[in-house]
Amino acid sequence: MPENLTEQQAVCSPITRSAIFIVATLKPGGKHAETVRAWCADVAALVRAVGKRVPAGNLSCVCGFGSDAWDRLFGRPRPASLHTFREVGAGTRRAVATPGDLLLHIRADQMDLCFELAAQIMIRIGDAVSVVDEVHGFRYFDMRSMVGFVDGTENPAAGEVARFTIIGDEDPAFAGGSYVVIQKYLHDMAGWNDLSVEAQERIIGRKKLSDIELDAAVKPSSSHSSLTTLVENGEEVKILRDNMPFGQPGKGEFGTFFIGYARSPAPIEQMLENMFVGRPPGNYDRLLDFSRAVTGGLFFIPSATLLEALADRQPDSTDADVRNPGSTSSDMRYQDGSLKIGSLKGTSGYD
Ligand code: HEM
Repeated sequence: MPENLTEQQAVCSPITRSAIFIVATLKPGGKHAETVRAWCADVAALVRAVGKRVPAGNLSCVCGFGSDAWDRLFGRPRPASLHTFREVGAGTRRAVATPGDLLLHIRADQMDLCFELAAQIMIRIGDAVSVVDEVHGFRYFDMRSMVGFVDGTENPAAGEVARFTIIGDEDPAFAGGSYVVIQKYLHDMAGWNDLSVEAQERIIGRKKLSDIELDAAVKPSSSHSSLTTLVENGEEVKILRDNMPFGQPGKGEFGTFFIGYARSPAPIEQMLENMFVGRPPGNYDRLLDFSRAVTGGLFFIPSATLLEALADRQPDSTDADVRNPGSTSSDMRYQDGSLKIGSLKGTSGYD
């Protein structure tokens, strides 16, 4: 399907004040698969109906499918780089993989819109899925993350977001789609707050109050921003993040829901490797001394055009063969054999 005929899901929509993240597994049985398939053609109308009630509320919903669910629901063809989330880590630092067939990323400037849409979607598919995680995120003051630093600064600029997030000619049948990685993190806020502001700034790589990047001479190669910066052929490979703080202070829960979109899973996987294992190994992200990933998943986001058409798909009997294609490196690569994630070295001399 040529890119110019596809309408994208709301991957590149503007940052909002509220979000609900729902991860669900598909219940066994053809009846439940049929319910979810049929809903694929309805979801856009649900977003329109709920969103119309508050036109300035910027309501949107992005729907993603996990690797196993794709095969069960839709069969072939399958997105070239879709696989189950690969756990990475060293020692006690683990980017865990947890169950998830369906991801809903619902965004709006007010929580009632998110809530209403989530409720309407559950009326349609609630019997066919088991919700394994639901997080209600909020924007914290001036775009602060739960750890107090401004989050999202180095996202790609509006004019370049699509180039980094939307699939093009590398996978023509899935052009207009995207990949997304999610992780739910819980923070040791007492430990984090015991650090001096300067120590926190060296961990993130930016000034806490002003959000200015630390000078190259003092920014450690282990800083979060150094380890998540990838350069390939002299050009930075970016991803689009829309992390949200969440929590329940009464229960001592303080969290960050990480969500990153890209046109291939490879750059996000490389960032996770750099953070959890280290670049070089051992030079890991100290943010992880205060943050534990408790969920992790990779999902494919079909274009809006394809999402609607998927309602009419039927997996055929041979589709069992394509389940769990495994973690061959070939499915991470572009046709030119490149990972499109840079030299995997540091950027601009920080390392
Ligand atoms: C505990 C969870 C996390 C928190 C609290 C967090 C917070 C932050 C903050 C405060 C910044 C600096 C401002 C900015 O440029 O946005 C940042 C940058 C960034 N983070 Fe995270 N982050 C988390 C997890 C992740 C993960 C899991 C990834 C990727 C797998 C990631 C990728 C990035 C990238 C690409 C940047 C921009 C780096 C640059 O170009 O300078 N983050 N993050």
